[in-house]
Amino acid sequence: MRQPQEQPTPPTYREIGPGDMDAIFDVRIRTWDNDRGAEELTALGITHDSVRDLLKDSHRGWLCEAEGQVVGFAMGNKTNGEMWVIAVLAEYEGRGIGKHLLTLVEDWLFSEGWDEVWLTTDPDETIRAVGFYRHLGWEDWKMESDGDRFMRKARPSVQRNSTGQPTSSPT
Ligand SMILES: CC(C)(COP(=O)(O)OP(=O)(O)OC[C@H]1O[C@@H](n2cnc3c(N)ncnc32)[C@H](O)[C@@H]1OP(=O)(O)O)[C@@H](O)C(=O)NCCC(=O)NCCS
Repeated sequence: MRQPQEQPTPPTYREIGPGDMDAIFDVRIRTWDNDRGAEELTALGITHDSVRDLLKDSHRGWLCEAEGQVVGFAMGNKTNGEMWVIAVLAEYEGRGIGKHLLTLVEDWLFSEGWDEVWLTTDPDETIRAVGFYRHLGWEDWKMESDGDRFMRKARPSVQRNSTGQPTSSPT
């Protein structure tokens, strides 16, 4: 007799809380492009305690769970409009998880009053994230001397003036 096919459980999304540090650091480190991710985060002052503190005040983030584990997350900073970090495990890429997480952070930052949000990413055009952001409406903004690529995205109802500054459209 034929058995009914087991359907994979769809991924679920929820806000990051103070108890999620192990899981989100694990995802970030596994998606880092070198094997010194843990040491580099610590050197940047990004620790479980510091991120827990950010979440009490300036930052919010969301994570995705699938098959009983955290497989991606993203966080933003409401004090400067920055989309701070996004990461999805390689084996879960290409399923719309990054897009969903990015939209949650963008929508929150726009709801906090920002007409434009921004991020930094890799200068290398071939990195998946650069094409991902462009595909989702982010544009190149500037390159810093230390090598970071800055990208930005205007609130959908916002248009730019001739100098590239966002101007709220008349309501
Ligand atoms: C970048 C990253 C978050 C993308 O996550 P993802 O879950 O694979 O992305 P999604 O599947 O949601 O893709 C969303 C859309 O972007 C498109 N896309 C993704 N990468 C793309 C690329 N390089 N070029 C063009 N389009 C791309 C997808 O086809 C999809 O299009 P659709 O909505 O029209 O179907 C993920 O690859 C990642 O974590 N990379 C490693 C960590 C990293 O680089 N983080 C960013 C540091 S700045």
